[in-house]
Amino acid sequence: MDIFYDSVKKIFHLQNKNISYVMKIIKDGYLAHMYFGKRIEEYRESNPIAFYDRGFAPNPDPEDRTFSLDTIPQEYPAYGNGDFREPAYQVELENGSRVTDIRFKSYKIYDGKPKLKGLPSTYVENDSEAKTLEIEMEDKLIGLNVILIYTIYKDFDVIARSVKFKNNGSEIVNLRRALSASVDFRESDFELITLYGAHTNEKNIARRPLVPGIQKVESSRGASSPQQAPYLALVRKNTDEDHGEVYSFNFVYSGNFTAEVQVDQYCNTRVTMGINPFDFSWILEQGESFQTPEVIMTYSCNGLNEMSKTYHDLYSTRLCRGKFRDKERPILINNWEATYFDFNADKIEEIAKCGKELGIELFVLDDGWFGKRDDDKSSLGDWIVDKNKLPNGLNNLVDKITSFGMEFGIWFEPEMISENSNLYRKHPDWALHVPGRKSTVGRNQFVLDLSRKEVCDYLIGAVSEILDNPKITYVKWDMNRHMTEIWSESLEPKRQKEVAHRYMLGLYYILEKLTSKYKDVLFEGCSSGGGRFDPGMLYYMPQTWASDNTDAICRLKIQYGTSLVYPPITMGAHVSVVPNKQVGRITPLTTRTHVAMSGNFGYELDLTNLSKEEKKEVKNHIALYKKIRSTIQFGDFYRILSPFETNETAWNFVSKDKTEFVGMYFKILSESASAIRVLKFKGLNEEFSYENLETNEVFRGDELMNAGITIDRVKEDFISKIWRFKKI
Ligand code: DGJ
Repeated sequence: MDIFYDSVKKIFHLQNKNISYVMKIIKDGYLAHMYFGKRIEEYRESNPIAFYDRGFAPNPDPEDRTFSLDTIPQEYPAYGNGDFREPAYQVELENGSRVTDIRFKSYKIYDGKPKLKGLPSTYVENDSEAKTLEIEMEDKLIGLNVILIYTIYKDFDVIARSVKFKNNGSEIVNLRRALSASVDFRESDFELITLYGAHTNEKNIARRPLVPGIQKVESSRGASSPQQAPYLALVRKNTDEDHGEVYSFNFVYSGNFTAEVQVDQYCNTRVTMGINPFDFSWILEQGESFQTPEVIMTYSCNGLNEMSKTYHDLYSTRLCRGKFRDKERPILINNWEATYFDFNADKIEEIAKCGKELGIELFVLDDGWFGKRDDDKSSLGDWIVDKNKLPNGLNNLVDKITSFGMEFGIWFEPEMISENSNLYRKHPDWALHVPGRKSTVGRNQFVLDLSRKEVCDYLIGAVSEILDNPKITYVKWDMNRHMTEIWSESLEPKRQKEVAHRYMLGLYYILEKLTSKYKDVLFEGCSSGGGRFDPGMLYYMPQTWASDNTDAICRLKIQYGTSLVYPPITMGAHVSVVPNKQVGRITPLTTRTHVAMSGNFGYELDLTNLSKEEKKEVKNHIALYKKIRSTIQFGDFYRILSPFETNETAWNFVSKDKTEFVGMYFKILSESASAIRVLKFKGLNEEFSYENLETNEVFRGDELMNAGITIDRVKEDFISKIWRFKKI
């Protein structure tokens, strides 16, 4: 990996063993984008920008009608002086003008990767793992400096990009748009992949050809959201899981975002990604600066599985942090679908005890343990145990459950406040609200104003009171409504459009404090399921509850879509009862288990209601998961058959040293005249001989990947099959 600068040709080339990214300073200091893609050994400008007189295109130089910002590929395009495509940024000045003109000023190249103050980001453990280029652009007239930051990793095929704005001028600059990345491709022969969904239907895959004009996904909900994910990929028509080019973009941020693709009049494609400019602005007083979150861009020439592997490897080792990053995660039992709000200490103990007998390692007490929370109408904000439900207190319950060898975890929804709570009665202004206007409720609750330091500090204190008990070793951090009436008591009118981003900075501040204070606590993110499943959250909490939909068949799509970007170890997945509580479907226990085992495994049902036979089965499943857990959680994941395209789903997990693998196959509906399926595993070592641990048959990796294995026909709906192979 290296970053070269050719001072004669004025070319920057970021390169590792698989990818290259090239920029060039052209005419009077504009920064042009020259190339992103497969590694080029030496870039000698075989693809110079062709300058033509494009009719009525605006020209900065009246003597040169061939030069127009509207027609050249740019690195960080401005608004207002000739490029009519989507700009990467825009500012408003004191005189009301919105035009800037940034030109190259200086650059620096250094080992390692900088931390982004107050923001989540990928990182290095050693400076030799990555190199960073900072290019400083300047608008001399107003003293605005824009620093474009690019990091290339040695072992991951990614470029991490972010931008820092510095107001070195004498007037106030109002930042109206401050995106993190913009890439111009000199072609438009792509298809666009995005992830969309809803509560209980997260991470569906959408794929469509690009058309002229703007195609965009975004969130203005105050969270990255289940509706659209902060991710997009450009792929070729023939790209599939294992072949073809993929350029992908993922935003390391948990709030409002935009991800846009614009195909212009000459069939160029511009991709932009960053904080959603809708309802955003940020005042930069003299000397102040603004750091954008980062975008992780990947390139793969071997299809979507390779793109996913890049994200999985990067995120599980250089985004997630803390003691649990490299630790096998506990199998848990959560009481939410078992009891909802209706439980007492005895019931909880019974479920936990039963879990222990079956081999489960962690009990998680979900919503309803605090205030007077017998339904979702009250008590958020009052993080004090409800003595009606737990008469001997929380710590007594923790002692009991941990005394029989189980770990104890607890649910919080700290970012919220119920109107019916002591906290709201004391501090009604702590909720986001607009003075004089009625506030909208969502699940009967308001959103706390985390742009205010005193609110953040209160939450750190309230959560700490509970977590000071060292026997609590897991937290489920929930967030169940989006932002409305966004306004803060603490900010002057001209700064009100900063609130949504200041909220995120407040949340990140709280999470940084708590996760570094409670290093032995495993944090799991949640937002009505996978509503805030994004890399920003994974920086603080190394796993996320993937969906409130626990139906095995729905989960095939949810987990398949989620796996495009996020590794299985980050994906909370639980076995629940049938008929399923979200969709009413009845599926076999093994199928439910195999789907849940494909992620971060747990249970969410009243274990005490299981029959003797079911308990026996569950015990065996848990024993099996413990054997395959490290391959699933730390191995490589390959998608084989897609639930979005077929009546089947298949995937396999291969240990990093390729000595073990686990394959899984699911058939949704039984068919009378279906083909006899042969399943071809992926990612094995061709030369290794692998033994099927069930049948003791031995096959070489090349045969298992190319000829595949025959799947027996089963005349039943919703069936699943698992294989375990080990190198002999
Ligand atoms: C939404 C979460 O996604 C559920 O798992 C559960 O924790 C409920 N909130 C509790 O209110």
